[in-house]
Amino acid sequence: MKPDVQIVEDAAQLSAALADLFIDSARIAIAETGRFRVALSGGNTPKTAYALLAQEPRRSAIYWRDVFIYFGDERCVPPDNEQSNYRMANEAFLSRIKIPLGNIHRMRGEVEPDDGAESYAKLLVADMGPLPRFDLILLGMGPDGHTASLFPGTPPLNDDALLVRAPFVAKFNTYRLTITPRVINNARHVIIATEGAEKAAALAAALQGAPDPEKYPVQIVAPTDGALTWLVDRAAASQLDTANIS
Ligand code: 6PG
Repeated sequence: MKPDVQIVEDAAQLSAALADLFIDSARIAIAETGRFRVALSGGNTPKTAYALLAQEPRRSAIYWRDVFIYFGDERCVPPDNEQSNYRMANEAFLSRIKIPLGNIHRMRGEVEPDDGAESYAKLLVADMGPLPRFDLILLGMGPDGHTASLFPGTPPLNDDALLVRAPFVAKFNTYRLTITPRVINNARHVIIATEGAEKAAALAAALQGAPDPEKYPVQIVAPTDGALTWLVDRAAASQLDTANIS
Protein backbone atom coordinates (compact mmCIF):
# COMPACT_ATOMS: atom_id res chain seq x y z
CA MET A 1 0.00 0.00 0.00
CA LYS A 2 1.42 3.43 -0.96
CA PRO A 3 2.07 5.60 2.07
CA ASP A 4 -0.38 8.41 2.68
CA VAL A 5 1.58 11.65 3.13
CA GLN A 6 -0.37 14.35 4.98
CA ILE A 7 1.28 17.78 5.04
CA VAL A 8 -0.11 20.23 7.61
CA GLU A 9 0.79 23.84 8.24
CA ASP A 10 2.67 23.69 11.51
CA ALA A 11 3.41 21.82 14.75
CA ALA A 12 0.10 22.80 16.33
CA GLN A 13 -1.90 21.42 13.41
CA LEU A 14 0.27 18.32 13.39
CA SER A 15 -0.46 17.65 17.08
CA ALA A 16 -4.20 18.07 16.58
CA ALA A 17 -4.18 15.83 13.49
CA LEU A 18 -2.13 13.17 15.32
CA ALA A 19 -4.51 13.18 18.30
CA ASP A 20 -7.51 12.87 15.95
CA LEU A 21 -5.92 9.98 14.02
CA PHE A 22 -5.30 8.25 17.36
CA ILE A 23 -8.97 8.60 18.30
CA ASP A 24 -10.16 7.46 14.85
CA SER A 25 -7.90 4.42 14.95
CA ALA A 26 -9.05 3.60 18.48
CA ARG A 27 -12.72 3.84 17.57
CA ILE A 28 -12.29 1.51 14.60
CA ALA A 29 -10.37 -1.10 16.59
CA ILE A 30 -12.69 -0.97 19.60
CA ALA A 31 -15.77 -1.27 17.37
CA GLU A 32 -14.24 -4.28 15.61
CA THR A 33 -12.49 -6.13 18.47
CA GLY A 34 -13.50 -4.44 21.70
CA ARG A 35 -9.97 -3.19 22.29
CA PHE A 36 -7.28 -0.93 20.90
CA ARG A 37 -3.61 -1.77 21.16
CA VAL A 38 -1.27 1.11 20.46
CA ALA A 39 2.50 1.54 20.70
CA LEU A 40 3.57 5.07 21.62
CA SER A 41 6.59 6.91 20.32
CA GLY A 42 8.91 9.00 22.40
CA GLY A 43 10.80 12.19 21.67
CA ASN A 44 9.25 15.67 21.54
CA THR A 45 6.97 15.58 18.50
CA PRO A 46 4.07 13.54 20.04
CA LYS A 47 4.08 15.30 23.41
CA THR A 48 1.47 17.94 22.54
CA ALA A 49 -0.75 15.39 20.81
CA TYR A 50 -0.65 13.25 23.97
CA ALA A 51 -1.65 16.29 26.04
CA LEU A 52 -4.58 16.93 23.68
CA LEU A 53 -5.79 13.34 24.26
CA ALA A 54 -6.09 14.16 27.97
CA GLN A 55 -8.25 17.21 27.27
CA GLU A 56 -11.87 17.53 26.22
CA PRO A 57 -13.34 16.81 23.74
CA ARG A 58 -10.90 14.03 22.92
CA ARG A 59 -10.56 12.68 26.50
CA SER A 60 -14.12 11.40 26.56
CA ALA A 61 -14.17 10.41 22.89
CA ILE A 62 -13.14 6.81 23.74
CA TYR A 63 -13.36 4.42 26.69
CA TRP A 64 -9.80 4.26 27.94
CA ARG A 65 -10.46 0.94 29.64
CA ASP A 66 -10.54 -0.55 26.13
CA VAL A 67 -7.16 0.99 25.30
CA PHE A 68 -3.91 -0.92 25.85
CA ILE A 69 -0.76 1.19 25.83
CA TYR A 70 2.65 -0.11 24.77
CA PHE A 71 5.88 1.61 23.73
CA GLY A 72 7.83 1.39 20.47
CA ASP A 73 11.12 2.25 22.12
CA GLU A 74 12.64 3.41 25.34
CA ARG A 75 15.81 4.86 26.73
CA CYS A 76 17.70 2.63 29.17
CA VAL A 77 16.82 4.72 32.20
CA PRO A 78 14.42 4.33 35.17
CA PRO A 79 10.76 5.35 34.58
CA ASP A 80 11.14 8.54 36.64
CA ASN A 81 14.16 9.74 34.66
CA GLU A 82 13.62 12.85 32.52
CA GLN A 83 14.87 10.91 29.49
CA SER A 84 12.19 8.23 29.93
CA ASN A 85 9.61 7.97 27.14
CA TYR A 86 7.25 6.39 29.66
CA ARG A 87 7.63 9.39 31.97
CA MET A 88 6.95 11.78 29.10
CA ALA A 89 3.78 9.94 28.07
CA ASN A 90 2.65 9.49 31.65
CA GLU A 91 3.01 13.19 32.46
CA ALA A 92 1.49 14.28 29.12
CA PHE A 93 -1.62 12.08 29.29
CA LEU A 94 -1.56 8.62 30.88
CA SER A 95 -1.77 10.04 34.42
CA ARG A 96 -4.60 12.37 33.32
CA ILE A 97 -7.04 9.86 31.83
CA LYS A 98 -9.18 7.09 33.33
CA ILE A 99 -7.14 4.15 32.09
CA PRO A 100 -6.57 1.06 34.27
CA LEU A 101 -2.88 0.90 35.26
CA GLY A 102 -2.89 -2.72 34.09
CA ASN A 103 -3.51 -1.45 30.54
CA ILE A 104 -0.18 0.40 30.44
CA HIS A 105 2.83 -1.67 29.44
CA ARG A 106 6.05 0.28 29.65
CA MET A 107 9.46 -1.03 28.59
CA ARG A 108 11.71 -1.55 31.61
CA GLY A 109 14.60 0.74 30.79
CA GLU A 110 16.03 0.33 34.29
CA VAL A 111 17.13 -3.30 33.95
CA GLU A 112 19.90 -4.89 31.87
CA PRO A 113 19.14 -3.91 28.25
CA ASP A 114 18.94 -7.45 26.89
CA ASP A 115 16.74 -8.47 29.83
CA GLY A 116 14.50 -5.48 29.21
CA ALA A 117 14.17 -6.40 25.55
CA GLU A 118 13.51 -10.07 26.27
CA SER A 119 10.90 -9.43 28.93
CA TYR A 120 9.07 -6.96 26.70
CA ALA A 121 9.07 -9.44 23.83
CA LYS A 122 7.58 -12.04 26.16
CA LEU A 123 4.90 -9.58 27.21
CA LEU A 124 4.00 -8.79 23.60
CA VAL A 125 3.77 -12.49 22.72
CA ALA A 126 1.69 -13.21 25.83
CA ASP A 127 -0.73 -10.43 24.85
CA MET A 128 -0.79 -10.76 21.06
CA GLY A 129 0.69 -14.12 20.03
CA PRO A 130 3.97 -15.07 18.28
CA LEU A 131 3.85 -12.14 15.83
CA PRO A 132 2.23 -9.18 17.62
CA ARG A 133 -0.12 -7.09 15.50
CA PHE A 134 -0.72 -3.61 16.86
CA ASP A 135 -3.78 -1.63 15.82
CA LEU A 136 -1.60 1.47 15.72
CA ILE A 137 2.10 2.20 16.06
CA LEU A 138 3.21 5.81 16.48
CA LEU A 139 6.70 6.62 15.26
CA GLY A 140 8.83 9.70 14.77
CA MET A 141 11.94 10.35 12.74
CA GLY A 142 15.25 11.91 13.73
CA PRO A 143 17.29 14.27 11.51
CA ASP A 144 19.50 11.23 10.80
CA GLY A 145 16.59 9.18 9.49
CA HIS A 146 16.26 6.95 12.55
CA THR A 147 12.86 5.81 13.79
CA ALA A 148 11.91 4.16 17.09
CA SER A 149 15.45 3.28 18.21
CA LEU A 150 16.53 1.91 14.85
CA PHE A 151 19.54 4.12 14.16
CA PRO A 152 21.84 4.22 11.15
CA GLY A 153 24.61 1.72 11.79
CA THR A 154 22.79 -0.27 14.47
CA PRO A 155 22.54 -3.68 12.77
CA PRO A 156 20.60 -5.72 11.93
CA LEU A 157 17.82 -3.84 10.34
CA ASN A 158 15.69 -6.14 8.27
CA ASP A 159 16.43 -9.78 8.97
CA ASP A 160 15.59 -9.51 12.59
CA ALA A 161 14.22 -12.65 14.22
CA LEU A 162 13.70 -10.77 17.46
CA LEU A 163 10.58 -8.75 18.27
CA VAL A 164 12.34 -6.35 20.64
CA ARG A 165 16.02 -5.49 20.57
CA ALA A 166 18.50 -3.61 22.79
CA PRO A 167 20.86 -1.93 20.34
CA PHE A 168 23.92 -0.01 21.49
CA VAL A 169 23.60 3.45 19.95
CA ALA A 170 27.14 4.74 19.53
CA LYS A 171 26.11 8.37 18.92
CA PHE A 172 24.53 8.49 22.38
CA ASN A 173 27.00 5.97 23.88
CA THR A 174 24.10 4.12 25.42
CA TYR A 175 21.70 1.26 24.86
CA ARG A 176 18.08 1.68 23.79
CA LEU A 177 15.14 -0.71 23.72
CA THR A 178 13.16 -0.90 20.50
CA ILE A 179 10.56 -2.97 18.71
CA THR A 180 11.98 -4.33 15.47
CA PRO A 181 10.80 -3.95 11.85
CA ARG A 182 9.16 -7.36 12.19
CA VAL A 183 6.67 -5.91 14.68
CA ILE A 184 6.42 -2.48 13.05
CA ASN A 185 5.54 -3.91 9.64
CA ASN A 186 2.92 -6.25 11.07
CA ALA A 187 0.81 -3.36 12.38
CA ARG A 188 -2.64 -2.46 11.03
CA HIS A 189 -1.62 1.19 10.90
CA VAL A 190 1.65 3.04 11.37
CA ILE A 191 1.82 6.82 11.70
CA ILE A 192 5.17 8.60 11.40
CA ALA A 193 4.85 12.13 12.75
CA THR A 194 7.65 14.49 11.80
CA GLU A 195 8.02 18.22 12.24
CA GLY A 196 10.64 20.92 11.78
CA ALA A 197 13.08 22.10 9.12
CA GLU A 198 15.91 20.04 10.62
CA LYS A 199 14.08 16.91 9.43
CA ALA A 200 13.56 18.13 5.84
CA ALA A 201 16.67 16.55 4.27
CA ALA A 202 16.11 13.15 5.89
CA LEU A 203 12.41 13.21 5.01
CA ALA A 204 13.12 13.96 1.34
CA ALA A 205 15.76 11.23 1.22
CA ALA A 206 13.52 8.73 3.03
CA LEU A 207 10.43 9.39 0.91
CA GLN A 208 11.84 10.32 -2.47
CA GLY A 209 15.48 9.22 -2.39
CA ALA A 210 17.04 5.88 -3.36
CA PRO A 211 16.25 2.97 -1.02
CA ASP A 212 19.05 2.95 1.58
CA PRO A 213 17.62 1.75 4.90
CA GLU A 214 21.07 1.31 6.38
CA LYS A 215 21.45 5.09 6.05
CA TYR A 216 17.78 5.98 6.60
CA PRO A 217 16.30 3.26 8.84
CA VAL A 218 12.86 4.88 8.63
CA GLN A 219 12.71 3.54 5.06
CA ILE A 220 12.26 0.06 6.57
CA VAL A 221 8.73 1.01 7.64
CA ALA A 222 6.37 -0.63 5.13
CA PRO A 223 3.43 -2.42 6.76
CA THR A 224 2.84 -5.73 4.95
CA ASP A 225 -0.91 -5.77 5.60
CA GLY A 226 -1.60 -2.32 6.92
CA ALA A 227 -1.54 1.40 6.27
CA LEU A 228 1.32 3.89 6.59
CA THR A 229 0.61 7.55 7.22
CA TRP A 230 3.29 10.21 7.19
CA LEU A 231 2.08 13.25 9.12
CA VAL A 232 4.49 16.10 8.49
CA ASP A 233 4.49 19.85 8.87
CA ARG A 234 5.34 22.27 6.09
CA ALA A 235 8.86 22.93 7.47
CA ALA A 236 9.73 19.22 7.45
CA ALA A 237 8.20 18.90 3.97
CA SER A 238 10.19 21.84 2.59
CA GLN A 239 12.53 19.67 0.48
CA LEU A 240 9.88 17.30 -0.79
CA ASP A 241 8.85 17.33 -4.43
CA THR A 242 5.21 17.64 -3.46
CA ALA A 243 4.07 17.39 -7.09
CA ASN A 244 5.16 13.75 -6.97
CA ILE A 245 3.59 12.84 -3.67
CA SER A 246 0.21 11.08 -4.01
C1 6PG B 1 12.93 8.42 21.03
C2 6PG B 1 11.98 8.20 19.92
C3 6PG B 1 12.63 8.54 18.60
C4 6PG B 1 11.96 9.84 18.18
C5 6PG B 1 12.82 10.58 17.19
C6 6PG B 1 12.24 11.95 16.87
O1 6PG B 1 12.90 7.68 22.00
O2 6PG B 1 13.67 9.39 20.95
O3 6PG B 1 11.11 7.27 19.96
O4 6PG B 1 12.56 7.62 17.62
O5 6PG B 1 10.70 9.56 17.62
O6 6PG B 1 14.09 10.74 17.77
O7 6PG B 1 12.33 12.68 18.05
P1 6PG B 1 11.71 14.16 18.18
O8 6PG B 1 10.24 14.02 18.04
O9 6PG B 1 12.12 14.59 19.54
O10 6PG B 1 12.29 14.98 17.08
